[in-house]
Amino acid sequence: MHRTLISESKNHIGEQVLLQGWVDIKRDHGKLTFIDLRDRSGKVQCVGYQMMGELTPESVVELVGKVKERPEKLINPNIPTGTIEIEVLSYSVLNKATLLPIEVQGDGKDISEEIRLKYRYIDLRRERMQKTLRKRSTFSHKLREFFYDHDFVEIETPMLTKSTKEGARDFLVPSRLQKGKFYALPQSPQQYKQLLMTAGFERYIQFARCIRDEDLRADRGFEFTQLDLEMSFSSQEEIMRIVEQAVTFAVKAVGGVLKQEPFPVIRYKDAIAKYGADKFDLRTEEEKQQGVLAFAWVVGFPFFKKVDVADEAEKRDGKSGWTFTHNPFSTPIAEHMAWHLNGEHIGEIETAQYDLVCNGFEVGGGSVRAHTPELLSATFKIMGYSDQEIQAQVGHMFEAFRSGTPPHGGIALGIDRLAMLLAQETSLKEATAFPMTSSGKTAIMDAPARVHAEQLQELGVKLEETTPKT
Ligand code: AMO
Repeated sequence: MHRTLISESKNHIGEQVLLQGWVDIKRDHGKLTFIDLRDRSGKVQCVGYQMMGELTPESVVELVGKVKERPEKLINPNIPTGTIEIEVLSYSVLNKATLLPIEVQGDGKDISEEIRLKYRYIDLRRERMQKTLRKRSTFSHKLREFFYDHDFVEIETPMLTKSTKEGARDFLVPSRLQKGKFYALPQSPQQYKQLLMTAGFERYIQFARCIRDEDLRADRGFEFTQLDLEMSFSSQEEIMRIVEQAVTFAVKAVGGVLKQEPFPVIRYKDAIAKYGADKFDLRTEEEKQQGVLAFAWVVGFPFFKKVDVADEAEKRDGKSGWTFTHNPFSTPIAEHMAWHLNGEHIGEIETAQYDLVCNGFEVGGGSVRAHTPELLSATFKIMGYSDQEIQAQVGHMFEAFRSGTPPHGGIALGIDRLAMLLAQETSLKEATAFPMTSSGKTAIMDAPARVHAEQLQELGVKLEETTPKT
């Protein structure tokens, strides 16, 4: 006998079906035992006569039963299988669940974060988490579909790489073969995607995992996913338009409601004057209740800002006291090109940067890039780098820029933040399968953890404190 999915069981009235799933809820009524059986497609009520009494919630069972129509007065209009019931003929327990550390029913928000993440595999069973992660999956699928239909090619870039400046600290990985040297995990595929433009792909996307060592917040993780994109021979307006079309298409495909189309475009200065920030929430109170998504573009950002001396990463990047606001690989706008090349009016130079904001969060950022050595070099000069330091940092990009690199630009969308907003949540953890705790501990597996002394020795790494043998 083949398995029938619960959602399809109502098409088999009067027949016997084999169902497999989890015991969602159990109720004993004397000789009758009722369970709600749950699989990926839904839930259905199953009733056993003088059997199933020993079943525990969340056990995995397989049962054979007869699909029966419920009498009119017992129909449950709240669930898709509310018109039927399964009369259980036989069953077996495939995996018995003992007492569970957390409850699967309910939204789980009353359970401590530490416990939810320790038992995430149970926590993820709850309906809210299932819905959110399935929605995230469809959203990503629709974005991919849109870009494939518009001639983009999906290409993976390395995870073990060299530091790329995105304004955060790197996570470093020691090299075993070249002791004393380190790889950096990518803060983004920024340079590789530009090199793919040099390589002639013209339209690239990647669902890229990015890793940044920055202070954790509800909307910021060490690890996150970008839909990373780059295009050649396209203006800022063309890039913004195609990204907006993709976001609109994918948001609507998962039932999202947009406040405004096309997305309003707001200049940075106006945003600061009006909202006091470059990310803002355009929704009314009523729209907030309705879960409306209010996207807007922000343009006209200054290229450089004064280094925040309290920020070590900024101090490292901006040796002259100036550092980039968004992305050192951007181009200034055409009108400010001369200032940029001559290092004049630094605070007034505007970058061809565009951010996408939604409901008060920055959900994407991109720019038209510098694609000549002179321009990229000028950016690093303004930040106080010597010719030698510039060569060491981005010499490889200069070589590429002398070998036929087309004008290009791109963007990266924050998939975790978008998935969070689509699910009407306020923390990335609610839209990520295995997020870290707020203190940076991994879900379930308890990392970061100590490693064997032999492992460190092999890597040529010595700790200041002693590492236990096991
Ligand atoms: P940026 O640094 O703005 O741009 O990142 C793009 C988008 O990624 C999301 N994001 C994050 N999400 C979760 N946790 C984080 N720590 C985190 N950091 C960023 C945000 C953000 O808008 N290379 C450029 C893109 C480009 O110019 O093409 C970049 O990475 O939603």
